Amino acid sequence: MEKDIASIERDCSAALDGVAEIASLNELRVQFLGRQGRLTGIMRSLGKLPKEDRKAVGQAANQVRDRLNQAFDSAEEQLKSASLAAEIQQRIDLTLPGAQGVERGCVHPLRRVEAEILSIFTRLGYAVASGPQIEDDWHNFEALNMPPDHPARDMQDTFYTRDGRLLRTHTSPVQVRTMLENKPPLRIVAPGAVYRCDADVSHSPMFHQVEGLVVDRGITMADLKGTLAHFAREMFGADTQIRLRSSFFPFTEPSAEVDVSCIFCAGSGCRVCGDTGWIEILGCGMVDPAVFESVGIDADEMQGFAFGMGIERIAMLRHRIPDIRLLFDSRIEFLEQFAQRDREI
Ligand code: PHE
Repeated sequence: MEKDIASIERDCSAALDGVAEIASLNELRVQFLGRQGRLTGIMRSLGKLPKEDRKAVGQAANQVRDRLNQAFDSAEEQLKSASLAAEIQQRIDLTLPGAQGVERGCVHPLRRVEAEILSIFTRLGYAVASGPQIEDDWHNFEALNMPPDHPARDMQDTFYTRDGRLLRTHTSPVQVRTMLENKPPLRIVAPGAVYRCDADVSHSPMFHQVEGLVVDRGITMADLKGTLAHFAREMFGADTQIRLRSSFFPFTEPSAEVDVSCIFCAGSGCRVCGDTGWIEILGCGMVDPAVFESVGIDADEMQGFAFGMGIERIAMLRHRIPDIRLLFDSRIEFLEQFAQRDREI
């Protein structure tokens, strides 16, 4: 029987050498190792051998089966890679030129405008700061002079988390964090996402702001106005005028809203500015002494100003975008226009 096993191995190896197709390889495998195969036949009849021979013959048969299985596997692999290589040769013309006109991406208009805003201020010596988007009530409201029953909280429809925290409704809590962690003089801008329960053509439940904060000795409203006038000219063009309208924020006193002369009609009156010639771009004011008190800064010694602007609003004005949602729904036809502008620059 051992001779039979050896001859099976020889026959099978010889037959394998001549195989050129997967189909005949499979046939051969069935013929030798299948249920009715030659080697299987031998293994079945092991029981008929005298006990003392069974072990040795069984082992020999197992070894041959393992070797043959390996030989089949490697022959199959070879055949497969050979046929793939043949197919590639037939189908792929490696001499063809590469893909033409690969699409180039571009920086999202919001990110571009954010970078422009930050660069105007970093060139004036401001540092860039940031804070968490999930805030606590103290940093978002209370330290900014908005106690729990303050009516100004209504202006900012807030998303609360189950554990009593909230999604920050503005970037002003970064003022608080900055003043707690650093000693004046301070000069920072803080960009980031903010959240309010509000949605229409000009409001999105998530939008972006840039906060500004300056704290030093002898800072006055004139510094604030001069800084913002410089910002408006850099952002919207050298002829841009600004005006401050008196307003209210709990964390600044006095407070103002800032308008720029209409970018579309240069002040003569049009639909965008509602015939006023002015467009509002941000809120600002002198840091309220109550805020200084909550972060441990002596209001008799230090003065400061702060401002906050919506990046979407600036981007919409800057690029004449009529609907805020265009900035968020990733329509390639819309975004491509900015790729075009990237290339022109
Ligand atoms: N945090 C205010 C808002 O979101 C904007 C602001 C910032 C006003 C700083 C004054 C000073 O409406």
